[in-house]
Amino acid sequence: MTSVVTFSHVTKSYPLYHHITGGFKNLLFNLPKALKEMKSAKFTALEDISFDIKKGECVAFIGRNGAGKSTTLGLIAQVLKPNQGTVEVNGRVSPLLELGGGFHPDLTGVENIELNGVLLGLTRKEVKEKMNQIIDFSELGDFINHPIRTYSSGMLTRLGFSVIAHLDPVILLIDEVLSVGDGKFQQKCYQKMQEFKDRGVTMILVSHNIYDIQRICSRVIWIENHRIKMDAPAEEVLTEYKKHYCL
Ligand SMILES: Nc1ncnc2c1ncn2[C@@H]1O[C@H](COP(=O)(O)OP(=O)(O)OP(=O)(O)O)[C@@H](O)[C@H]1O
Ligand SMILES: [Mg+2]
Repeated sequence: MTSVVTFSHVTKSYPLYHHITGGFKNLLFNLPKALKEMKSAKFTALEDISFDIKKGECVAFIGRNGAGKSTTLGLIAQVLKPNQGTVEVNGRVSPLLELGGGFHPDLTGVENIELNGVLLGLTRKEVKEKMNQIIDFSELGDFINHPIRTYSSGMLTRLGFSVIAHLDPVILLIDEVLSVGDGKFQQKCYQKMQEFKDRGVTMILVSHNIYDIQRICSRVIWIENHRIKMDAPAEEVLTEYKKHYCL
């Protein structure tokens, strides 16, 4: 099987802005030195991460808040760059990373669908052909002609998932957002994801919902303290995870 995502020894750190040692007065008296220190202070969000995801695999990342899951998806989507190590991705990535990410707040639902389709590499004609399917799936009714800044978070999720689900995903990244959709819509999304799985789409999810992970994913990668604690078949990892956190 061909690899679609390969991380080798990836480390990702962010600048740490709030690192003020010695108090605020001290900071003012030694401003140039303090500024230099602040600039060089780093927070390591991922440390020496290596894994390999094959075509058609369905993998979930789990771990506590702040563990580094979204950072991992950001690196796969190539909106973030590693500080050390390499990230290789083979294939088009359709990311559903954060609420409204990739959407323009002043454009309507329909206009955002067009914009996203074109950004994902489709022609306007192709997007127009899929438009009705996307609108039907979203069940947004008249709101589809309103600017999306008027949408609730669940409505944004509906639009986001409907767009990526109908524009022929190859590698699908979904970070959490489905949890704000209502029960019925979540059900529809998981059905769609089951279809993708059968079609050999590679899916990479972040979720705190163990039940959903069990339904969809065959493999789980558990990140703890910015490193991989466990990478194994879903049942094994989830059993350990539940034991660890007394869930
Ligand atoms: N842009 C940023 N600048 C500075 N630090 C950041 C930035 N983004 C994330 N971090 C830090 O990196 C760490 C990992 O964050 P990340 O968003 O990947 O966590 P997560 O596992 O997705 O958490 P959650 O379950 O809460 O979504 C956190 O400690 C966070 O504070
Ligand atoms: Mg996150």
